Amino acid sequence: MKKLIVTGGCGFIGSNFIKLALRKGYKIKNLDSLTYASHKMKANFSHKNHSFVKCDIGDKNIIRKILNDFKPNAVINFASETHVDRSIHNPEIFFKTNVLNTFNFVEQIRKFLSENKTNNFKFIHISTDEVYGSLKPKEKSFTEKNKFLPNSPYSASKASAEHVMRSYYKTFKFPVIISNCSNNYGPFQYPEKLIPLIIQNCINNKSLPIYGDGKQIRDWLFVDDHCHAIFKILKKGQLGETYNIGGNAEISNIKLVKDICKILDKKYNKKKKNSYSNLIKYVSDRPGHDRRYAINSKKIQKNLGWKPSYSFSKGLKVTIEWYLNNREWTNFVKKDYKKWIKKNYSKRI
Ligand code: NAD
Ligand code: TYD
Repeated sequence: MKKLIVTGGCGFIGSNFIKLALRKGYKIKNLDSLTYASHKMKANFSHKNHSFVKCDIGDKNIIRKILNDFKPNAVINFASETHVDRSIHNPEIFFKTNVLNTFNFVEQIRKFLSENKTNNFKFIHISTDEVYGSLKPKEKSFTEKNKFLPNSPYSASKASAEHVMRSYYKTFKFPVIISNCSNNYGPFQYPEKLIPLIIQNCINNKSLPIYGDGKQIRDWLFVDDHCHAIFKILKKGQLGETYNIGGNAEISNIKLVKDICKILDKKYNKKKKNSYSNLIKYVSDRPGHDRRYAINSKKIQKNLGWKPSYSFSKGLKVTIEWYLNNREWTNFVKKDYKKWIKKNYSKRI
């Protein structure tokens, strides 16, 4: 049986990935420090092939022990600080987790690999399209050859981690593969990110904050499609390569928010006068706000045979239904949520 270490397995994408991996018969060791963004997905935690250790990926002693005891065949590294707005309020934790602790983690794995005979070991590092910066409206979508031009402390920290990975591959033949995906959406995403935030605020009759003019564009990827792409990389990806993963679904923030409102209006029989879109409120912009992301996924499509299976309209409907049917979960996850909402939104006009 294949054994995987998954870091950040209590976060949004990591927990969805583990659910799929367990269905595929993998044995999982989930390492997560349980930050505010984490949750323990029932289906994963009650599975016999899932075990969990609460730890920081930068904790050398614990990581060394886990590697020697568990002897994984591969590592999928999701653990990260992930919210751009938080990286503006508090950049330090982003560089600590996403660069320094990520480096410490990789270094322990390098040592483990030098001391143990391992065949076909892979370290898959999950990065982001945000390392490439911002596109103009007509500019070509990001390929793996784009320059790094990060604009937020978050994207700068992710770009830095990629440089660590590249240098380890070149210098030590460290068996790394990097993936750069676009904005994910789907079940179990912490409601600080745009889609779950808007759904939550609609349900609770709160205003729907749109940064700036709302014409910024993101290329949305349904989380299940992303997880399937990671399995393709695990099975067929080439060491030292990077793969872009996108949902082929460019849409502006304002159109996306209006689409969510339309779906909810229909579901709850709202007429124009009471439409959820009346809750839309333009607020001051995010500093350094990237205008447009768009991913060219040709490389993973051609070389590894992956393509997204969810259209954006299908994925959005599934996602909205999930949040409506899992209100208990969203209440549970809101540990520091109120504090964050106050911090991020109270000074926006
Ligand atoms: P998330 O914020 O939902 O979850 C991150 C998880 O990592 C949490 O469970 C947290 O407790 C854990 N974690 C944080 N610091 C840790 C540490 N030092 N040690 C151990 N665990 C730690 O994030 P996500 O949205 O699931 O993102 C997963 C990965 O995908 C990240 O690397 C992120 O940069 C990347 N990514 C995400 C998106 C997206 O749209 N969500 C897009 C592109 C790339
Ligand atoms: P987000 O979900 O934070 O992802 P990212 O910044 O990584 O792309 O934001 C998606 C887009 O939505 C981004 O352009 C910022 C915008 N946005 C708002 O307009 N209002 C909000 O309250 C939030 C959280 C985001």
